[in-house]
Amino acid sequence: MPLTTPRANTTVAITGASSGIGAEIARCLAAKGFSTTLIARRTDRLETLAAELRDKHGVASTTLACDVSDRAQRLALVESLNAGPTVVGLVNNAGFGTFGHVASADADREREMVAVNIEAVHDLTIRLLPGMVERGEGAILNTGSTAGAQPLPNMATYAASKAFVIAFSEGLSAELAGTGVSCTVLCPGPVKTEFADVAGSAGLEDSMPSIAVVGASEVARQAVEGMLKGTRTVTPGFANRLTAIAARIAPRSLVLPIAAKYTAR
Ligand SMILES: NC(=O)c1ccc[n+]([C@@H]2O[C@H](COP(=O)([O-])OP(=O)(O)OC[C@H]3O[C@@H](n4cnc5c(N)ncnc54)[C@H](OP(=O)(O)O)[C@@H]3O)[C@@H](O)[C@H]2O)c1
Repeated sequence: MPLTTPRANTTVAITGASSGIGAEIARCLAAKGFSTTLIARRTDRLETLAAELRDKHGVASTTLACDVSDRAQRLALVESLNAGPTVVGLVNNAGFGTFGHVASADADREREMVAVNIEAVHDLTIRLLPGMVERGEGAILNTGSTAGAQPLPNMATYAASKAFVIAFSEGLSAELAGTGVSCTVLCPGPVKTEFADVAGSAGLEDSMPSIAVVGASEVARQAVEGMLKGTRTVTPGFANRLTAIAARIAPRSLVLPIAAKYTAR
């Protein structure tokens, strides 16, 4: 059964809900009547958002603190989720990037990126998916990026992590056909959130064509629409859809210099 009608005693779990795209996805789902479980490290922000969702939309909204880079914390998170309302939706949205050459990067921060952007997405999915398939109902939404459509110099680990998210999600989407469970990958282009400040790439989006920049609330609207319909891939913005296709089919010898130009500072 697709995830079309909110039901009592169910929830949609959203990682990275304390900011940016994740917070907007939570607002969108709540506006459609879905109860949510908001997950991140900054619980003060989660509590404020949960109160907003309850007051504005009359839905249940609870919070769970979790550093998703930490395997033990992820295990505890899944235990808490399994002890609460049935998880009918999982939004793996927590993620971050870094900017600069891998050779001079903070190695621990690069490893942490792999843990958050890849391991957590994979781990939470494989822990929660079997229950969804057993119940014949569920929707997974993973936040990828147009950065995953090609390698990106200066954001090499980040682009590779999002390539994983895209390939994993698209493979799952096909595997899940006929099960009542869907997997959607969201591939935004540049979005003005706290992402650039965290990555140390502030100003980079100014070098992107303005046509590529889509607001966080519109990205979330399209993501939730895709998740509820079980769409395989959602890439908000015509320019982003076009560049993602071009980046996939063009030879790397052409793509890499262009990508290097856009990510140079
Ligand atoms: N903004 C863009 O241009 C853009 C483009 C394409 C894709 N994306 C992707 O969109 C997603 C959301 O990013 P955003 O743009 O909304 O950035 P953001 O405003 O910086 O939000 C990032 C979210 O991820 C959470 N997070 C980061 N590390 C975490 C950890 N170890 N454990 C738990 N939560 C963690 C943060 O929560 P806490 O810090 O409170 O833990 C925050 O809620 C990411 O996957 C990002 O890669 C962004």
